[in-house]
Amino acid sequence: MTLFRLDGKHALVTGGSKGIGLAAAHALARLGAHVTIAARGETALRTAADALGARCVVADVGTPEGVRAAVEAAGAVDILVSNAGGPPPSLPSQVTEEAWRRGFDVTFLSTVRLAEAVLPGMRDRKWGRIIAVTSLTVGRPAPNLPVSNALRAGVTNYLRTLALEVAPNGITCNTVAPGYTATDRLRALHADPAEAERLQNRIPARRFGQPNEVGAAAAFLATHEAGYITGQELLVDGGWGI
Ligand SMILES: NC(=O)c1ccc[n+]([C@@H]2O[C@H](COP(=O)([O-])OP(=O)(O)OC[C@H]3O[C@@H](n4cnc5c(N)ncnc54)[C@H](OP(=O)(O)O)[C@@H]3O)[C@@H](O)[C@H]2O)c1
Repeated sequence: MTLFRLDGKHALVTGGSKGIGLAAAHALARLGAHVTIAARGETALRTAADALGARCVVADVGTPEGVRAAVEAAGAVDILVSNAGGPPPSLPSQVTEEAWRRGFDVTFLSTVRLAEAVLPGMRDRKWGRIIAVTSLTVGRPAPNLPVSNALRAGVTNYLRTLALEVAPNGITCNTVAPGYTATDRLRALHADPAEAERLQNRIPARRFGQPNEVGAAAAFLATHEAGYITGQELLVDGGWGI
């Protein structure tokens, strides 16, 4: 039997027009899955979908309407990769109430709403994979990312708890926690080349990760072969968290 094939499975990848989400979509497509990608910006989304041969849907997963649109466009979702942009940097004492609420919607509630929308079909089919992209900051909080640190810990424990409920239904729930990964978000957060070099020298692997390295980890968790792995956090961080 060929290992790691996902022929016939339908995958929805949110935040799928760029970076880690797009890399996960590519990895899933290479394994044979039918992929739908969702994001807010239509131009980048359509370009990415055309290159991938995927379906696409313009949707903001920070809203209930966006989640509904994404799930409806994807059809019978067997594999959910819940991903979106990260909250903006700030000191913990400077996060506004509004930023906490938007962070809660985009970074936490998106995964809950997406999972709730896809679970009934997964239960019917007795097979499902729910994967959320979180961050290395769950284990080691970054001083300037308080919203991410707090809410991704919530996503992690939400999915660990959901994993207990849905394990009898053939559904697994896991998180992929990227370390420093060379995407637009990383380039925006670490724009100074000297600072970026210092940071890479502190990573045991001495380099930033590539989006495809994180995408491949998410795709692995979607495979049949990963069916006995649930409630886990898979760090893809070049050794940062050791
Ligand atoms: N890169 C890293 O080093 C790193 C490390 C740890 C964790 N992470 C986390 O991993 C996730 C992905 O990071 P990335 O570096 O790949 O980011 P990215 O390059 O900025 O890509 C983010 C993707 O999400 C989409 N998106 C943003 N907000 C959205 C929303 N509300 N609804 C739907 N789509 C949305 C973006 O498209 P639109 O803007 O057009 O919607 C884009 O497709 C983020 O949550 C980030 O915090 C990244």
